[in-house]
Amino acid sequence: MKFDKRIGIIGIGKMGEALISGLIRSKLIDPSKVGVSDINLERKEYISAKYSVTCYPETDDLINNSDIVVIAVKPRDMKTVLDDIKAQLKPKHLLISIAAGISTSFILRHLQKNISLIRAMPNSPCMIGEGMTVLAPLPGTSIEHIQYAKEIFCSVGKVLLLDEEHLNAVTGLSGSGPAYVYLFIEALTAGGMKVGLPEKVALILSTQTLYGSSKMLLETGESPKKLKGLVATPGGTTVSGLTELEIGNVKASIISAVEKATQRARQLGIE
Ligand SMILES: NC(=O)c1ccc[n+]([C@@H]2O[C@H](COP(=O)([O-])OP(=O)(O)OC[C@H]3O[C@@H](n4cnc5c(N)ncnc54)[C@H](OP(=O)(O)O)[C@@H]3O)[C@@H](O)[C@H]2O)c1
Repeated sequence: MKFDKRIGIIGIGKMGEALISGLIRSKLIDPSKVGVSDINLERKEYISAKYSVTCYPETDDLINNSDIVVIAVKPRDMKTVLDDIKAQLKPKHLLISIAAGISTSFILRHLQKNISLIRAMPNSPCMIGEGMTVLAPLPGTSIEHIQYAKEIFCSVGKVLLLDEEHLNAVTGLSGSGPAYVYLFIEALTAGGMKVGLPEKVALILSTQTLYGSSKMLLETGESPKKLKGLVATPGGTTVSGLTELEIGNVKASIISAVEKATQRARQLGIE
């Protein structure tokens, strides 16, 4: 265990659990150094029993026993949480928010104090150490605090640092992206079944095809266009399939999906 800071996570729903699960699986931090707090008592008991993390009855206790505080509640609950924690937050704390659409200026406005703050947008594969997280530190955040955030999220996947202006777009792409990919796998599987494959077989073929193709892009550094060209020989089977995808406007629909999700993230910050 190389990470000697204590992490407190407020809100341990889907994403809070994905983060805890990934952190513990990566062995970056001892579970005894992870504290959790949630409005839902049953959820708190379930998570603390499952991951052997410390469950705090009050958020104040969590803040007092943490160096880094991660807020993982829904955007609509951010104001309540910020009001709840503002008195306890000290300059030594690093605050990380993963809430979609909620800007650092919104957070600072509600806290009414200067604090080390990083907005992060992870995604659900953090749960198995294959997440994609973009970090947008508030200007002035110390190198040391940025390094802590990088260590945390690098332990559960890949990390990029970007300016905050890109965070809603990141939300629309990699934050929501796993759901688009699952939909694509669902469709591939249904296609396999339609042409006679058993469901289990079709699902394995679809999933491994997505995994292998993504890994090939990452490992070769080639463009998707070039790798697509290597599979699609003129007059072959793949071209017939790709033509059908073009007729169905699949590429345009995916582009629109990212745009719409980005717009929704922007809207969440205003609501
Ligand atoms: N899900 C994703 O794939 C994903 C990816 C990237 C970022 N995010 C962001 O991560 C955040 C959490 O999303 P999620 O999908 O994990 O939501 P979620 O499953 O609803 O989890 C949020 C948890 O916070 C609890 N909570 C609500 N108000 C609270 C309060 N005042 N104090 C403490 N806990 C409170 C909720 O309890 P109740 O259920 O009882 O309200 C729930 O257990 C969101 O802001 C989202 O934008 C999510």
